[in-house]
This record gives sequence, C-alpha cells and structure tokens, in this order.
Amino acid sequence: MTKIYDFKNNIESNELREVASCIRDGGLVVFPTETVYGIGANAINKDAVNKIFKAKGRPSDNPLIVHVSDKKMLNDVAKDINKIEEKLINSFMPGPITIILNKKKNIPDNVTCGLNTVGIRMPENKIAREVIKTCGVPIAAPSANISGKPSGTNIEDIKDELSNKVDIIIDGGNCDIGLESTVVKVKENKVIILRPGKVTPEDIRKIGLEVKLDTHIFSDVKNEEKVESPGMKHRHYAPKAKSVLVDFNNDDMVSKIINILKENMKKYNSIAIIGFEEHRKYFEKMENIKYLEFGRIGDLDQISRNIFKMLRKLDRDKVEFCIIEGVEKKGLGIAIMNRLLRACSYNEIK
Ligand code: TXA
Ligand code: MG
Repeated sequence: MTKIYDFKNNIESNELREVASCIRDGGLVVFPTETVYGIGANAINKDAVNKIFKAKGRPSDNPLIVHVSDKKMLNDVAKDINKIEEKLINSFMPGPITIILNKKKNIPDNVTCGLNTVGIRMPENKIAREVIKTCGVPIAAPSANISGKPSGTNIEDIKDELSNKVDIIIDGGNCDIGLESTVVKVKENKVIILRPGKVTPEDIRKIGLEVKLDTHIFSDVKNEEKVESPGMKHRHYAPKAKSVLVDFNNDDMVSKIINILKENMKKYNSIAIIGFEEHRKYFEKMENIKYLEFGRIGDLDQISRNIFKMLRKLDRDKVEFCIIEGVEKKGLGIAIMNRLLRACSYNEIK
C-alpha cells in the first residue's frame, strides 16, 4: 500500500525521517518540485534505480537526472566542471534547470544508461530540498508519470497513475511551473538547450553566455538520427485523441479553428478545444464541443501550469479529437510549444 503524506502546509518531521529512510533503503518516493513531481530513488543504489524504470515502464536507454541539495552533493557526483558550467550552476541553481555534466564513478550505469555524463538538477522547491537534504544521498528522479504520458503536476493525477507503484507519495500541492526543467549541455563553449523550460535562452544570454536551441526542439527525430538527449526520441505527452495544434496568430486563429471544426464535426463523437480564455465566447455555445481554457493570451506562466493537467483530462473525458491553440514561440512559449507539438505528433496548422 502506498502511503500518502501531506506536506502542503507543514513538513512533519517524523514523516520526513520516514521518507528519508525509505529512499536510503532502496524504496520509491514521489515528491514535488517547482517544475513537476518526480519519482525518486537513491541514485547510488543500482537496484533502487531499476525500480524506477519498472514503475514507469521507461525505455532502458533514457537516462535519469540526479537531484542534489547543494554544491557539495553536486561535486560528489559530477567532475571536470568548466567555467561555463560553473557560471550556469552559480546563476541558475537552485532552480528549474538540469545541467549535463561529466559523471563520477559512484553513479551507477543504469542511471545514465551507460553515458559518461549525468544530468544534475538542484530543485528550489522547499519540500524537494528538505527531502534530499534529509536523505543525505543524491536522488535519481524522472517525472512522475507512466512513460509517454504527460508529467504529473498535481496530486490527483499522480494518485490516479502511481498509487501502488511506489512506497510513498508526498502531496505538495500544484507545481508552480508545471513543465519540466530546461535541460542544457555545454558544447564547444556554447550552451545547447536540449529541452526548453522556464529558464529561457534570453535568461542564459543575459549572464553573458552564447546559447543555441537543439535542432529537435520543434521537429520530430527521424529514425536512426543521432540525438544529444535520448528523451527526444521517445513518444511523449500524446493524448489518445487525435490532436492538432493551431499556430499562434490572434487575428485569425478563431476562423482557422472553425474551419477545422467544419471538416471534422461529423467524424468524431467527442471534440474538445484547449485554448485561451478570450476565445471561449466563440465556441461555448456550440453543441458537442468542450472548451477547456488554459489561460489568457500571453499569460505563459498560467498556460504552462495547466497544459499537462488538460492533456490528461482529454483521456479522462474520452475526447476523440482535440484542437489546441498555440502560443508565440518566445521565452517560456518555446517550452510550451515544444510540449504541445509533441502532444499533437507535430500536426501543426499554420
Ligand atoms: O523538471 C524536471 O527535470 C523533472 C523533475 C522531477 O526534476 N524531471 C524530469 O525527468 O523531467 P525526466 O526523466 O522525465 O526527463 C529527463 C530528461 C530526459 O529527456 C533525458 O533523456 C534527459 O533529461 N537526460 C538525462 N540525462 C541525460 C544525459 N546524460 N544526457 C542527455 N540527456 C539526458
Ligand atoms: Mg519525463
């Protein structure tokens, strides 16, 4: 039986100690971070790490990221840190970033799937920090979801999917950001963004570093193509509903959607639109169309917080066809569009 501990208002010290010994002894604990929830295990215990892959049904070639509470713990697992990496660490940690660094030998091979690098993250969320600090060991943790599903950002979705697959679930309320961390790697003195997130290219430019988006941020990986991050190849976030994404352009999005609806109305029993609050009025009176609003135009923080919850709702409501409104590919909008494009299998209407 999975135990549920409520740390929303107060981290109870006996329960925290129990969480820490569970992880140290090789158990699995779901814990909140500011990005999404993670399924955590002792990163230096190979058998515990194996349990994560099993619980998620995760492909064995997709490495896990390792969570640390401070710089000392970071230096216990990563080595040969160069000036640029050091600057990223000092500027953005703790926070919603994962930096790919050379790994030390104590990290077992199954954490990194045989790579000689390891993704390091130092979360800012208070509960996450307390958990890692009290455990005293680095924690390997992928997002809390079954492989291929949207990452868990709230306790209802997590209980639905992971009850009885882990030892403890910590309820820390809704995640602030709602999208996974920005994953970066330094290559030839440039910062390459492998997965966009709350830390944007502009944020990295502002600290004086050169930054580039990986070529696969907005496009699919072809068979056999070599990728910098194994996670890029795997199917992700896709709801059961056939989904299309409408390119952001506030002037004619609504008419584009009406055309798509006309073409598809008769083909599906259940249709949904995920879109802006401002556009609800055009669709709410239409019969058989469910309108799910994810935020106001331009409120990217709110939209990012809601996306995964809404994608899950499509499956729960047995929606067969879904139209999603896109946002501008700028700032946090880059991360939002990266997730939405994948959810729609790159089916974008321009
Ligand atoms: O916000 C987050 O990053 C959350 C929370 C729980 O911290 N975690 C998370 O983990 O999203 P996961 O496993 O769902 O995504 C980690 C991504 C994957 O795409 C993986 O391929 C990539 O990071 N990754 C991990 N280690 C890597 C490495 N050594 N080289 C390149 N990519 C790596
Ligand atoms: Mg994930």
